[in-house]
Amino acid sequence: MYFILTLTVFIPIIFCEDRLVHVHALWRHGERNPRDLFKGDLNNASAFPDGIGQLTKYGIRQLYTLGEHFQARYIYEYKFLSSNYSNTEVYARSTALDRAFVSAMAFFSGLYSDGTSQEEHILSPISIHTIPLEDDFLYIIGFQCQRKEEIRKIAENSYEMQSLFSRFNDLLVEVANNTESSLEFDSALNVYDTAVLEEMYGLPLPDWVSARIPEWNEFRIKYVLIMYGYISFTNSPHNLQLELLKITGGSLVAEIVDRMIHKIKCERFQTPECLNIKYQKLYTYSGHDITLIGLFSGLGFKTFMFETEEMPSVSSSVVLELWENEKIRNSIISQKTFYNYYYVKIYFYQNSSVENPKYIGNLLEECQRQKGCPISYLIKRAELLRPKPDLKRYCDQSLNAASKDDLEIRHF
Ligand SMILES: *[C@@H]1O[C@H](CO)[C@@H](O)[C@H](O)[C@H]1NC(C)=O
Ligand SMILES: *[C@@H]1O[C@H](CO)[C@@H](O)[C@H](O)[C@H]1NC(C)=O
Ligand SMILES: *[C@@H]1O[C@H](CO)[C@@H](O)[C@H](O)[C@H]1NC(C)=O
Ligand SMILES: *[C@@H]1O[C@H](CO)[C@@H](O)[C@H](O)[C@H]1NC(C)=O
Repeated sequence: MYFILTLTVFIPIIFCEDRLVHVHALWRHGERNPRDLFKGDLNNASAFPDGIGQLTKYGIRQLYTLGEHFQARYIYEYKFLSSNYSNTEVYARSTALDRAFVSAMAFFSGLYSDGTSQEEHILSPISIHTIPLEDDFLYIIGFQCQRKEEIRKIAENSYEMQSLFSRFNDLLVEVANNTESSLEFDSALNVYDTAVLEEMYGLPLPDWVSARIPEWNEFRIKYVLIMYGYISFTNSPHNLQLELLKITGGSLVAEIVDRMIHKIKCERFQTPECLNIKYQKLYTYSGHDITLIGLFSGLGFKTFMFETEEMPSVSSSVVLELWENEKIRNSIISQKTFYNYYYVKIYFYQNSSVENPKYIGNLLEECQRQKGCPISYLIKRAELLRPKPDLKRYCDQSLNAASKDDLEIRHF
């Protein structure tokens, strides 16, 4: 009798819970200063004592706070990560820009904070990995890729983009005229990126700039929706949207999904390649608004705006939790089916003041009415968007030379 009682009490608690296996997190760096000043700017560099393009003190605090939220969730609530830094458990990747590096350092200070520090002290030195910006698909703007330039040019000449340009033409003309710059989106971006921050810091702005900030914000979001593969095109090469998805989020989605598959395999089999991944629990990317935007479209989201009609906020973060279904422990599992016992929950921290992330996986049709996204869905996305045969050769191959299946250009 005693024996049966123990069993009935024991089973639900110990054996019937899904198990968190691995976590990916990608955030946008914290609040930063303008990257440069524009011609006619009423401020000079002395207005930005933390340095041009650098994180502000508040920006550092934001990532520290995000790290504390992760501590609460993954160290204390799920008891998933160790409370002290372990080189084998976490892996930190960053773009090679100061604001992304410092954001990662601040995040890990928060993750391993002892709860007593009032400041953003670095409590544990963390190894942060990077690659040169021109090779880095996380920084799509600076990433050097011939194919990317070609595809972006086609997108800029599309009916959708030309309509957008003509709608906001007078804004572009005005910026070009007032700052003696070229009549291009990127020149206007440089001016408004600075202006938006100067306005936020309460610094003086020329009237012609401040009057049009709301219009600029609308223009920018519409531009990004087109250029990052969120809309389909009429009267264009019919795979243009797919090509844009490949260059903006394809490599990142493929890398993340490959890592998940590797992790799952190594949960079941022990091969020499499992040495590092076996102990890895958290993989983080410190990046930019465009990195998040590329990941969202790559994962199949129809928007990157979840609560506000804005670009992803500084210190916002997307999290992909890989879970193992408890059923795996009482099932007869074949080599082919064990992936079916894993699923991925996708969460979003709108900004670092949000303590509990919003579950956004239900916005993907394939992930609805179940615990999360099936691995099969993510594999499908990765195979759809993976640059082939590899990123370097994909980038070097001109569209014209690309095989017919890769891109069929329809002429109208
Ligand atoms: C920068 O701006 C400050 C405040 O407006 C001013 O005092 C200073 O002289 C300016 N420095 C330069 C080099 O223009
Ligand atoms: C973590 O580090 C603190 C401070 O160095 C130490 O006191 C504590 O014992 C460590 N905890 C574990 C679980 O290693
Ligand atoms: C161009 O700039 C000049 C002065 O810089 C201004 O007087 C004029 O109105 C501007 N034109 C347009 C179209 O913005
Ligand atoms: C952070 O996000 C929450 C939820 O969307 C929002 O209510 C709040 O205003 C945001 N805070 C800042 C500082 O942007």
